[in-house]
Order: sequence, then C-alpha cells, then structure tokens
Amino acid sequence: MKNKVSSLLNNIWLIIIDYKRMNTKNMHKNKDGIYIYNEEAYEGIKKACEIASKTLDMIGSYVKSGATTEELNKKCHDFILSHNSVPATLGYRGYPKSCCISLNHVVCHGIPSDKKLKNGDILNIDVTCILDGWYGDTSRMFTVGNIGLKAKRLIELTHDALFLAIKNVTPGKTFGDLGAIIQEYVEKHKMSVVRDFCGHGIGSEFHQAPNVLHYGNYNSGPRLESGMCFTIEPMVNIGRQETKILSDNWTAVTRDKSLSAQFEHTVFVKKDGCDILTNSFNNTFFPEGAKLHRNNV
Ligand code: MF3
Ligand code: CO
Ligand code: CO
Repeated sequence: MKNKVSSLLNNIWLIIIDYKRMNTKNMHKNKDGIYIYNEEAYEGIKKACEIASKTLDMIGSYVKSGATTEELNKKCHDFILSHNSVPATLGYRGYPKSCCISLNHVVCHGIPSDKKLKNGDILNIDVTCILDGWYGDTSRMFTVGNIGLKAKRLIELTHDALFLAIKNVTPGKTFGDLGAIIQEYVEKHKMSVVRDFCGHGIGSEFHQAPNVLHYGNYNSGPRLESGMCFTIEPMVNIGRQETKILSDNWTAVTRDKSLSAQFEHTVFVKKDGCDILTNSFNNTFFPEGAKLHRNNV
C-alpha cells in the first residue's frame, strides 16, 4: 500500500516537472525580465485570445436596456466554458465573477450584479480566457440605446488612443513611447488618462512584466522586442484622472463621477510591427451606438 502511494506520488511529480518543461521551453526572459515567446507560445496565446474576442462578439446582442450585468456575466461564463476555456478572473485574488463590467463612471473592475442596464448607459466588458495554460485578455465598450454626444466622443477618443499606440508597437520602440503617445493624444482633446491602472505583459500568466503605462515619456522604459506579448488598455475619463476603490475592494470609479471608457487588446510583437491577437470576428470591436455621424454634428 505504502509503495503504491509513493509510486503514484512519484508519477505525479514527473508529470508536473514535464508540464513545467513543456511550458518553459516556449519562452525566456530578456534583460528587463520580460518574456520572449516563441512561435509555439504565440499559437497558444492566439487561441486563448480568440475565445476572449468571440466572447465579446457574442455578448453584444444581449447588451440591452433591462438586462442585468449578472445575466451578461453568466452568458460570458457559459460561452467560455463551452469553448473548453476557463475565465481567468473567476477566483483571481478573490474576484468573484467571470468578467468585469464597468458602467458609466466605473473605470474598471466593476463586479457583475443584479443592476439593470438602462437607456444611455455606456459600459466596458473585460474578459480574460485561459486555454491550455495560455492567457488572452480583451475589453471593449458597449452602449445601451441612445447615448450622449460627450459619451460618444469619449469612446471614440479612447479607441483611437489605443490604436495610435498599437501602430507604434514594433521592435526598437519603448514602452515609454506607447504611454506618451496615448497621453499626448488624450490630453490634446482635454480628457484625462487614468494613472492608477495599466496594461501588462501576458501569456503564460495573467499579469506579468512589464507594466504598460498609458502615460509617460518618449524614449524611456524597456525597449520592445519581437516575441513580447502584452496588453494595452487605456482608461480615459471625461473629467479628472483620479480614481477611488469602492468598499467591495474592487470597483474603481472616477472621483469626480465623470464618465470613463476603456478598450483593451492583447498584442504580440513581431519582427516588423505586431499582431493584434484579440480582433473581433464580426467587426464589433467599436460599438455601433457610439459612432459619431459627422454630418449631424
Ligand atoms: N482583465 C483585467 C485586465 O485587463 C484584470 C481583471 S482582474 C479582476 O488586466 F480580478 F478584476 F478580474
Ligand atoms: Co482585461
Ligand atoms: Co489586461
């Protein structure tokens, strides 16, 4: 009996060591402590990202006046599981749900609840999927009914700031460049960049080096290299940048209660530029309800 147990334990250890080896040969750390992933890791991360994007593609038609954010959470949860994936947020540092839903003046980490959506609401839904040990993270804005002009401008600005940064994701640029580009663009339009939360390296873990700040100085910080994988996820407020955390210890809101928006992509640095791994498959990354019909304004 004793022998059987110890040989079983031995086998388990061998399996664990083997698994570790499997995952670590796909990557190494550079001098800044940032993982450089190989082609096999790229494929793994890409698949996790695809499920995250498809979850957001799916949820769009359920974002309607009267729906609760918990109903949306349940739909995301079921969708992720049905794709043999696991929602990374569920149980992460005690976080209780399978996605984050941040309404109006909530900056990020809003917890799905029985609160009902209503006409004029804007919301961010943020989903992270784990597939075969790889992580993919994305978020976008959704709108309910008719939203105000200021809200539309905020959503467009936040989206465009993300894409300006993504255009500059290429070997040789610095993380400071990405932050500076976002900050400059947002401040030029008299809105503000949240400082209290940032993007992050991602791949073999949910959050890893480096911190990807959405503000900063050109030519500062680590240099981008081919094989890096990270998120860019600027949060922009109409009013002041300051945030505070509510008593649930998660929900971050703007201190001045002004509206906040966020978009997030996971990007992978290639030899010449980058791949966006969390593109929408049905072209709904930018919400229809936030489009400015320029002839009318
Ligand atoms: N998905 C978020 C991000 O973009 C993190 C959510 S962590 C949670 O990094 F615990 F709040 F879910
Ligand atoms: Co996210
Ligand atoms: Co993220």
